[in-house]
Amino acid sequence: TPLEKRENLFKGTHIVVTAGGTREAIDPVRYIGNESSGKMGFALAQVAERLGAQVTLISGPTNLVLPAKSSIQRINIKSVADLQAALDTAVQDADILIMAAAVSDYRVAKIADHKMKKDDFNGELEIKLIENPDILATLKRPDSLRYVVGFAAETNDLIENAQRKILKKNLNMIVANDVGNPQIGFESNQNAVTILRPHQANIELKKNDKSIIAEQILKLIDQEIN
Ligand code: CTP
Ligand code: CA
Repeated sequence: TPLEKRENLFKGTHIVVTAGGTREAIDPVRYIGNESSGKMGFALAQVAERLGAQVTLISGPTNLVLPAKSSIQRINIKSVADLQAALDTAVQDADILIMAAAVSDYRVAKIADHKMKKDDFNGELEIKLIENPDILATLKRPDSLRYVVGFAAETNDLIENAQRKILKKNLNMIVANDVGNPQIGFESNQNAVTILRPHQANIELKKNDKSIIAEQILKLIDQEIN
């Protein structure tokens, strides 16, 4: 496709991307987090921008920076509650949601006001966790939202687990990622994924730079909605 066409692929389209991992506070200086560099989400946001989209990027804590000239609206969040609040607003006029963030399944039941002191616990500390809402499954989808993409990082039974999540979360697409493979770890600039959609054959995207994988995913989405 000529460059000019590619740059207009998502003209007039608002794409919301979530990226990175969430942090659930234990006390003012500690948190429970999960592995996620944010690189896949940032790549999706930047390629979507290059393809002409209006992009909102909701990001967990990460070292990644966008170029100064970027038109991407970046919203930084920490907890799942932050993510939910930011997303509820951002999706209001969104056409596409790509949920690449690693969302903490549990949060700390009672966050300590003060730094916890180790001597207050006799060599053993239990922290009670409460399940977080499933943001994708429970999101109130505005009429404008035409396409919803989830991610699934799995160490085993990749396809079965991802397939189940498509149904459970009512997704148009899930990007399934075998995180048991040490060659394409979280911090890697490369990824290899399987794309699942309801009622369509799965597509394997071979190991490649995350920006190339992002472009392949976005072009598939474009084919689906146009
Ligand atoms: N997700 C979400 N809200 C949550 C948990 C996950 O929106 N509370 C989203 C993720 O951003 C991802 C998709 O759901 O796009 C799948 O996340 P995953 O952790 O693989 O699925 P879970 O339903 O949490 O199942 P499990 O962790 O038990 O495998
Ligand atoms: Ca989870």
